[in-house]
Amino acid sequence: MAGHKKLIIGNWKMNLGVHDASVYLHKLDVAIQGHRDVEVVVAPTALAVQPLSLQVNRHKMKLAAQNFYWRDFGAFTGEVSATQLRGLVNYGLVGHSERRHVFGEKIKDSREKVQAALRNQITPVLCIGETEHERASGEMRDVLHDQLVGGLANITSEEINDIVIAYEPVWAIGTGRNASPHDVEAAVLTIRSQIAHLFGKEKAAAVRILYGGSVTADSASDYLRIKGIDGLLVGGASLKLHEFSEIIKKAHVVVQ
Ligand code: PGA
Repeated sequence: MAGHKKLIIGNWKMNLGVHDASVYLHKLDVAIQGHRDVEVVVAPTALAVQPLSLQVNRHKMKLAAQNFYWRDFGAFTGEVSATQLRGLVNYGLVGHSERRHVFGEKIKDSREKVQAALRNQITPVLCIGETEHERASGEMRDVLHDQLVGGLANITSEEINDIVIAYEPVWAIGTGRNASPHDVEAAVLTIRSQIAHLFGKEKAAAVRILYGGSVTADSASDYLRIKGIDGLLVGGASLKLHEFSEIIKKAHVVVQ
């Protein structure tokens, strides 16, 4: 919405080790000098979060966790909690399509994670989106509704101010297939009206909503210009320094 900086999040997924992530971050920092009107966030491997948190110039860039467990501490072998990430990252992805579809995360998990993030001063980025089959069978509205209402249940009308929603149609993630700006605009309207139903119109208008799914430097401006879109969640293209900096530059231009 007007008044927000555009938010561009690069999700590196299970790519780049600690060293390569650090080198990339340094080069990105140099490449995007002078784009302070864009909020740039990268989500590295969990291993790199701590070293990058020491390296990152937080006036220019922030870090996000790709995932975390919702309990704060305890006997949960192999997990990292939002409490352990507190102070290291500003954002945390929740319910990314790969978490839902590859790792079987349920709506209940997103709900717990949204709350865990909030109680640890991490802004949750709740990712929602329909599969191709759900879209074809006319279930898109219901799917978005269930993921949204399920993920945001138990959130207060104060806390909704600190939540980002990412609309990512599953069929457009990592496939090179583009959702049309028209379809994205319709989905964003649906999302805002569902949030309005829960928290009122004013809150719904203020929630930041991102688009994600095969965004490239070529398509970025088309998505950034969509009414109601506040930024982008970029996967594959965020691994290419030149392409990702171009996307950030496009966001800078759109803001002008
Ligand atoms: P993609 O990934 O840009 O490679 O489609 C987006 C995402 O997974 O958030």
